Amino acid sequence: MSKLFYEVKKKAKIGDALYDFAVSQPRPLGKEHGFNQIPKWRAPDEILQKDEFLWNLMKKYNATGWVFYYKPWEHYKWHFDEVRTVGLNLALNDVRHHVFFDTGDNDSFKTDMMRDFIELKYKPHTYHVLNAGVYHCGYNFEEYRYFFTVQFPKDIISFDQLVAELMDEDLLFD
Ligand SMILES: [Fe+2]
Repeated sequence: MSKLFYEVKKKAKIGDALYDFAVSQPRPLGKEHGFNQIPKWRAPDEILQKDEFLWNLMKKYNATGWVFYYKPWEHYKWHFDEVRTVGLNLALNDVRHHVFFDTGDNDSFKTDMMRDFIELKYKPHTYHVLNAGVYHCGYNFEEYRYFFTVQFPKDIISFDQLVAELMDEDLLFD
């Protein structure tokens, strides 16, 4: 099976600015449904534009940037994303948390009792390209956790396509 996530070689330049933005926003946010149920803010373009790699990629694929948060002792249940098959994520603070990806077929997820998984360990100021089309989940512990994520429209680009493109440009670690 191919890898489910990759580390981007180009370091993120906007992590601190996005963190400052996130902690200055009012909380908590109201709950809605589906994708909208996740507490989040649209990331300001003025910040995103400062990272040329990111901004060019977002423009190319008509993508949008968001800052999400988990509150303390919150988990994001096992799911796969409806709105995209690829994400580009950046952790904005380093708190105790875990992010897991299931390595089996989606079809048997709900009927299996036992499953295999791997852990995505975010590095600071580092973009991670991830396969959002397979089951994944997140567990957050004592502190608020903030992260930035890019929504690539699924009808425009898939995980495999973005990985292939970035690999071609030698922008991903194997
Ligand atoms: Fe997700």
